[in-house]
Amino acid sequence: MATPNQYLQLIGQSPAIGTVREEIDYAARCDAKVLVTGESGVGKEIVARLIHAGSERRHNSLVTVNCAALTESLLETELFGHVRGSFTGAHRDRTGVLEQAHRGTVFMDEIGETTPRMQGLLLRFLETGEIQRVGSERTEARVNVRVIAATNRNLSDGVAAGTFREDLFYRLNVIQLHLPPLRERLEDVPALLSNFLTMFAAQYQMPVPVVADDAMAMLESYGWPGNVRELKNVAERLVVRSRSGRIDLPDLPTIVMRPTSPVPTSLTATRGVEDLLFEKMVMQRESFWSAVYTPFMSRDLTRDILRALVRKGLEQTGGNYKILTELFNMPTGDYKRFLNFLMKHHCHVAFQQFRTVQGRPGKMVSETPVTPPSYQDRDFRARP
Ligand SMILES: Nc1ncnc2c1ncn2[C@@H]1O[C@H](COP(=O)(O)OP(=O)(O)O)[C@@H](O)[C@H]1O
Ligand SMILES: [Mg+2]
Repeated sequence: MATPNQYLQLIGQSPAIGTVREEIDYAARCDAKVLVTGESGVGKEIVARLIHAGSERRHNSLVTVNCAALTESLLETELFGHVRGSFTGAHRDRTGVLEQAHRGTVFMDEIGETTPRMQGLLLRFLETGEIQRVGSERTEARVNVRVIAATNRNLSDGVAAGTFREDLFYRLNVIQLHLPPLRERLEDVPALLSNFLTMFAAQYQMPVPVVADDAMAMLESYGWPGNVRELKNVAERLVVRSRSGRIDLPDLPTIVMRPTSPVPTSLTATRGVEDLLFEKMVMQRESFWSAVYTPFMSRDLTRDILRALVRKGLEQTGGNYKILTELFNMPTGDYKRFLNFLMKHHCHVAFQQFRTVQGRPGKMVSETPVTPPSYQDRDFRARP
């Protein structure tokens, strides 16, 4: 049986990963706060785990908190705990994760998503180590916890824009460890792939498939907008679908066969709702139907956002709607339904402008061209 830590290793032979390994060793030897930066799926959490596992705190807990997944008040109780009666449903006192991580490490993921008030609470905690549970008037405990924070945002930009506290940024940024996106270290693809193929083959009790040279070359030239997480998902699909024990070009997911724009704009520019939704589908593998269609139908998303999302996707797929269906995590059979939905709500975006040189219309996977709706067709019914 695989032990939980068996796969806790940073794979890759690129110079960038070599530097990251040295930085992990250095961070493990000291007790300073660490800020891990990099796009979604690059390995920030694995880095935090390796630092903890290599440090003197390894015999105590490593607790992970995803700051983006909880509302401000839930995050506060999660971190600091609460006293009985502090809110409806608080039937008993509860310790927070910071107390549970005493003498250990807390990994605060997506720290860039915290509210100003939460940033204030964190700063106070970092300065004093004091825990004040929600609903309590006094300091309950003083704990010794090492903080490793991570973000896929550029926090200096947040500081400049006034959305992230400068004093908190400097507190956290004692050791900064940056993980470059996979497209900047494509030489790591073969080792990562081989590791994931072996891992999933063991999990599914299948033979480890052999990757043909041309298929490997294709994987090494893809832009991997979802980084290592996306590669891991691809490896899992390849193992599950592999019949012959060989992976040839036609076995690769179509998305990998498309040229991608070098830098996904979503990850560098200021992020809007469409960027978050894009990440939900492309990196966290949520389906378009639940991530976008449902909120759109309940009018929580505007048409402009939906159009921006489609545009972003078409940029990645070189204007191909069929591949976009796959990129947005729908079965290929949903292609027509997807297009009909976009047409019906006037959110279909003309694909021609996104065609790249490699993706000349004549060379494309066959696709029914759809004329964009004219502006007279526009429906101005109340929609936010
Ligand atoms: N260099 C690497 N070697 C092995 N596995 C990796 C590597 N980088 C990322 N992974 C794996 O890819 C997935 C995404 O990594 P994660 O650390 O969760 O990314 P992030 O926190 O940056 O979004 C995880 O399953 C992780 O184990
Ligand atoms: Mg993560």
